[in-house]
Amino acid sequence: MPAAVLVGAQWGDEGKGKATDLLGGDVDYVVRYQGGNNAGHTVVIGDQKYALHLLPTGILSPEVVPVIGNGVVIDPGVLLSEIDGLAARGISAERLLISSNAHLIMPHHKALDKVTERYLGKAKIGTTGRGIGPAYGDKIARMGVRVQDLLDPGILAKKIEVALTEKNQVLTKVYNRRGIDLEAVLEEYLAYAERLKPHIADTSLVLSKALDEGKFVLLEGGQGTLLDIDHGTYPFVTSSSPTSGGACAGAGIPPNRLTKIIGILKAYTTRVGSGPFPTELTDEMGDWLRQTGGEYGVTTGRNRRCGWFDAVIARYATRINGITDYFLTKLDVLSGLERIPVCVAYEVDGVRHDEIPMTQTDFHHATPIYEEFPGWQEDITSAKSFDDLPPNAQAYVRTLEEMSGAPISAIGVGPGRDQTVVVRSLV
Ligand code: GDP
Ligand code: IMO
Ligand code: MG
Repeated sequence: MPAAVLVGAQWGDEGKGKATDLLGGDVDYVVRYQGGNNAGHTVVIGDQKYALHLLPTGILSPEVVPVIGNGVVIDPGVLLSEIDGLAARGISAERLLISSNAHLIMPHHKALDKVTERYLGKAKIGTTGRGIGPAYGDKIARMGVRVQDLLDPGILAKKIEVALTEKNQVLTKVYNRRGIDLEAVLEEYLAYAERLKPHIADTSLVLSKALDEGKFVLLEGGQGTLLDIDHGTYPFVTSSSPTSGGACAGAGIPPNRLTKIIGILKAYTTRVGSGPFPTELTDEMGDWLRQTGGEYGVTTGRNRRCGWFDAVIARYATRINGITDYFLTKLDVLSGLERIPVCVAYEVDGVRHDEIPMTQTDFHHATPIYEEFPGWQEDITSAKSFDDLPPNAQAYVRTLEEMSGAPISAIGVGPGRDQTVVVRSLV
C-alpha cells in the first residue's frame, strides 16, 4: 500500500494541520518527518481548537498511529508538556511512536539560537528561538544527542559532557553567557527518559512492515518549500528539508513507496521572520489580510507578513516537490475584494523572470508583475461543492491551478474540519 506526503508549498502556515487532520480518517499512520517545535499546526474540530508543535496531527484521530520520524529534532520537555496538555483535554498519546534515531534539542541549543540571533543584529534570520538550527548543526557535525541515548544513562552522560565541553567554551568565551551545568542537564534528561521510554521505537522498521501489510502512511511536513535548507530562500530558511525529497530520509522509507505528493497552498501568501518576499504588502491591504486571515504565529505569536498569491513560487513548489495534488486553503479569506492581484512573474532590473531568479541578490531585487482577477462578494464558508462557489471564485481557483501546474483537488473555505470542498479524492 502507498504512502503520501503532505508538504507546505510556500513559507509555512499554509494550513498543513487542517489538511493532515482531514486525511487522518483515511490513513493508519501519520509521520512527522522534519523540523521540531518551530512548527505550529492548528486544527479546529467543532468548537475545539488545537495547536500542535511536535506531535503529528494524527494524534487527534484515535484510529491513527502518530509517529515522530528520525528527521525531527525533539525538545523532550516541550513534547511532554504537549502530551500532558492533550491528556488534560481527554486525548491520549499512548500510541505515539518516536524514532530512536531522532535528535534531541538540548539546553545549549536553545541558548545558542537566541544568542547568535542577537549577534547577527539586522542580519538575523528571525528564528523561532527554539534551538532548531543549532540542533541540526550538531547532527550534521556528528555531535548530536539522539533519542536512543536516553536508553543508556552512561552514554547519555558521556555525550552531554562532550557537547558541553565545547558549547560552554563558546557560550562563556565568545558570547559572554553563563555556562550550562552538566549535572542539572543530565538529571533533567534522565527524568524525560523515564516518561519517553515506552514510545521509543525503530520507526523505519515499523513503517516498512505497516506498508507491507497494506496500511496507509501519511508523511506530514513542518514549515514549507521556501523554508527548505537547500531549495528555500537561504539563509532565511529553517535547518531541515520540508520538501518531498526530505520526507523519505526523515521517515526512513524509500521513495518508491510514495504515490501522492500533496502540496498545501494558501490562496494568498504569508511569511514569518526575515527574508525576501516579493508580493509582501506593507500597506493597509496587508493589515486587512492579516486581520481577516488571522495571520498571527501559532508558535511565537508574531505578526505574519502578508501578500498576494505568487504563482512563480507555486510553480516552483510543484517542480521541486513533484506535486500531484494541491489543497488550496483560506479561499474564504479573499471574499469581499473587488479585484484580486496574482503575481505571474517578476521583474529584476528591467528583465522579466518567469522562474525564481538563480541568485539571492536577484531574488532580493525581484518586484512582482501582477495580473488582476475579479473578486466575489458572497460568503463561501458553507460551500460544500465546487458548484456552490460563486463563478469568480471558481475562476480564481482555475487560474491558480493553471498557473501552479498541478490540479487543485481540495479547497478550504473555513478553519473547521468540515469546511472543505473536495473536488477529487486526495487518498
Ligand atoms: P500550518 O502551520 O501549515 O499547519 O498552518 P497554521 O495552523 O500555522 O496556520 C493556518 C491557519 O489557518 C490556522 O489558524 C487554521 O485554523 C486556519 N485555516 C486552515 N485552513 C483554512 C481555511 O480554509 N480557511 C480559513 N479561514 N482558515 C483556515
Ligand atoms: P509551520 O510548520 C512559518 C521560520 C522562522 C524563521 C525561519 C527559521 O507552522 O508552517 P527556525 O526556528 O526554524 O530556525 O526559524 O523559519 N519558521 C516558520 N515559519 N511556519 C513555520 O512552521 C515555521 N518554522 C520556522 O520564522 O524565519
Ligand atoms: Mg504554522
